[in-house]
Amino acid sequence: MSEQHKQWIGGAWVNARGNKTRDVVNPATGKVMAVVPESSADDVSDAIASARTAFDSGPWGKTMHRDRGALLFKVAEAIRARAAELAEIDTRNMGKPIVEAEFDAADAAHCFEYYAGLASKVHGMTLPVPDNALSMTIREPVGVVGQIIPWNYPLLMAAWKLAPALAAGCTAVLKPAEQSPLSALVLADIFEKAGLPPGVVNVITGDGPEAGAALVADARVDKIAFTGGIDAGRIIVKSAADTMKRTTMELGGKNPNIVFADADFDAAVDGALFGAFANQGEVCSAGSRLLVEKSIYPKMCAALADKVKRVTLGDPLQRETKMGPLVSAEQRDRVMGYIEIGKKEAKLLCGGKRGSGALKDGFYVEPTIFSDVDNQMRIAREEIFGPVLVVIPFDDEDDAIRIANDTPYGLAGAAWTRDVFKGLRVLKQLRAGILWLNTYHPTYNEAPWGGYKQSGFGRELGVWGIENYLETKQININLSEAPIGWY
Ligand code: NAI
Ligand code: MG
Repeated sequence: MSEQHKQWIGGAWVNARGNKTRDVVNPATGKVMAVVPESSADDVSDAIASARTAFDSGPWGKTMHRDRGALLFKVAEAIRARAAELAEIDTRNMGKPIVEAEFDAADAAHCFEYYAGLASKVHGMTLPVPDNALSMTIREPVGVVGQIIPWNYPLLMAAWKLAPALAAGCTAVLKPAEQSPLSALVLADIFEKAGLPPGVVNVITGDGPEAGAALVADARVDKIAFTGGIDAGRIIVKSAADTMKRTTMELGGKNPNIVFADADFDAAVDGALFGAFANQGEVCSAGSRLLVEKSIYPKMCAALADKVKRVTLGDPLQRETKMGPLVSAEQRDRVMGYIEIGKKEAKLLCGGKRGSGALKDGFYVEPTIFSDVDNQMRIAREEIFGPVLVVIPFDDEDDAIRIANDTPYGLAGAAWTRDVFKGLRVLKQLRAGILWLNTYHPTYNEAPWGGYKQSGFGRELGVWGIENYLETKQININLSEAPIGWY
C-alpha cells in the first residue's frame, strides 16, 4: 500500500486543486511507494500568495533575526532527531545508499545550524563620503523566493535553499523534484512543529514544466534559486528575465579529475572511483572525466577495472551497498543511451549493463568505465549524470590543464600529485568553482558552492549563500545646515 500525501501551503496540508495526484516510485523496486498532489499553476499561485502575505504583512518580516535564528536551531535539532527516518525516505525515494543518505541528513542539520548562527550576523557598513553626511548600507531580505531543486540530494538541496533564505528573512515556495518530493514534506512537518508562522515556507509537489514554470513566471516572486540540469536552467533564466527576477543557477558539470604519475597511486584510484560513483554518479560535481598521465595510464586502467568490484550494486537500504539504482526509468534509459554511444566511441573497460537477477525490476546500472577516450567524444563532453566514468590520457601538465578546461562546464575538479606546488599551479588554472587536491568530494557548509562558465552563477553555502537572499539599501543622513542641492 502506498502512502497518500498532501502539499503544504499557507500552513495547511492540502490536496491539489482538482485533486490531481502523482505516483512516487521506489527506484529499487519500480513500484509505487507514495502518492502526492500534482500541483497545478493554481496551487502554485496559492502558495505564492501565502508567501507574499507572510512576507509583506505577516509576522516573519517583524521577527527579530535572533528569533529567526532560534527557530532554525530548532529545525536543525529536529532534523537530527528524525535523521534515520529522513535518510530512509531519501534512500527509498531516489535510491542512494543509506550510508550516504545518513550523511546528507547530518549535513542538512548542520546547514540549518550554520545559517541559524548567521541570521544575527548580517550587517551593513558606514561609508566615508565627500560631504557632511553619514552614508550607510543596510541589508534587507529580497522578498518571496521560489526554490526549485533536483532529485539527487532531495533533503540536502532543500536545506541549502531554505536555511539561508529564512535566515535572511525571506519567505519561500519550495518545489522539490517530482521524482523525490517526500523528504521535503517531512521537512515541512518539522517547520510546522517548530512553530514557523503559516506561509513562510510552502512546499508544492508539482512537476517542472507546469508548477515550476508557473513559479518562475509569477511577478509576485522576487527571486528564483535553481539547482538542476542545464536545459531547465536555460528555460528558467529566460522566463525569469520577463519580470527581472534575481536568479542563481547551480547546474551540471563534466568535471576533470587529474592524476599525475607522481601521485599516491592507491589513493588516486580510490578517489577516482568515489569521485565518479558516489550517489550513483548522479552528482553535479562528479569526477566524471578522469585525466591520467600517459606513463601510468595502462596501470590506472587495470587498477580501476579491478577495484571497481568493490563498488557493490544492490539494495540501497543494505548498509554494505555502495551503489543503488538510478532515480527513474527515464534516467536509467538516458544513461544506457550514453553507454551505447560510448561503446561505439571508445573501449568499454567494465560494467555497461543494467541490473539483473534480484535487481532486474529496479533502475540499476552497473558502474561503467570507458578507456581510450578522447575529450572530443560525446561521452567526454556531455553530462551523463549516472555511473559512467571516462578515462582520458594526457602528456604533461599543460596538456592536462588544456583538456580539463576544454568543456562548456566549470563546476568542479581535482588534481592528484605529491608535488603540492604543481597541484596548486594546476588548480589555479582550472576554470571551475570547486577544486580539490589529493581528495574528491568533501564539501562544507562553510565554503562557497557554485560554478564557472555554463555550470551556472551565484554561490550557495557559507557567507556567500545568504548574500543571494539579500538586497542592499543605501541611506544618507544630512549632517549640515547648508542649502540643499543647487537651490
Ligand atoms: P531537471 O533539471 O529537469 O529538474 C530539476 C528540477 O527542475 C526539478 O524540480 C524539475 O521539476 C524542475 N524543472 C524542470 N523543468 C523546469 C521548468 N521548465 N521550469 C521550472 N522548473 C523546472 O532534471 P531532469 O530532467 O530530472 O534531469 C535531466 C538532466 O539534468 C540529468 O540527466 C542531469 O544531466 C541534469 N541534472 C543535473 C542536476 C544537478 O544537480 N546539476 C540535478 C538533476 C539533473
Ligand atoms: Mg527535466
